[in-house]
Amino acid sequence: MSFDRSIKIAPSILSADFANFGAECEAIEAQGADWVHVDVMDGHFAPNITFGPATCAAIRPHIKTVMDVHLMIAPVDPYIEAFAKAGADIITAHVEAGPHIHRTMQAIRGAGAKAGVALNPGTPASAVAELLDMVDLVCVMTVNPGFGGQKFIDMTAKVRELRAMIGDRPIHIEIDGGVDPTTAPLVAAAGADVLVAGSAVFRGGSVSDPEPYGANIRAIRAAAEA
Ligand code: DX5
Ligand code: ZN
Repeated sequence: MSFDRSIKIAPSILSADFANFGAECEAIEAQGADWVHVDVMDGHFAPNITFGPATCAAIRPHIKTVMDVHLMIAPVDPYIEAFAKAGADIITAHVEAGPHIHRTMQAIRGAGAKAGVALNPGTPASAVAELLDMVDLVCVMTVNPGFGGQKFIDMTAKVRELRAMIGDRPIHIEIDGGVDPTTAPLVAAAGADVLVAGSAVFRGGSVSDPEPYGANIRAIRAAAEA
């Protein structure tokens, strides 16, 4: 994965058809997705239960681009190896998931994946200040973890602050939650380069009719690049 700060659209399969994950991954990539965002939830750190390493391993052969795994779980460390083995390119853990985020980032890179750290809306940018020389991505949550289709929480000031902290380090700023053609320009202007979108990508389409996925992805990208 070479680094560049061009806008990337990462559809979240939390909004996909749960009976057809493999076909959905192929469909969104064929329709222009840059990455595939996989929302892992444990019903403990996040108030929902989705899927785990086995699902990641099953969809890996259907993903040609980047499998961007977002762990909304606690504890994280016991599961890093399994997600890396399942083929995750990026593994993102929440700074709020435990007392040893520095060690978790070391463990993710040690397992051969790129390391991401995620911040819930209530967590300040300063929480990652000591991690900037050991992560590849900072994920700014613009909803509280748990579900797709929630209302965007404006975090543009935090994104701007993070962009300044990061400087020219090769670190992606990923926005996650409530991204659509209206909110995408706000966060892109503030310095974000990876836009996760679930409901705004999958709405109106299906595996058998994926055209809307492409139109939705193009609309978000165009708005972010305007
Ligand atoms: C929420 C997840 C998000 C969510 C995005 O806990 O981390 O990735 O699926 O869905 P939308 O884009 O519908 O807000
Ligand atoms: Zn996510």
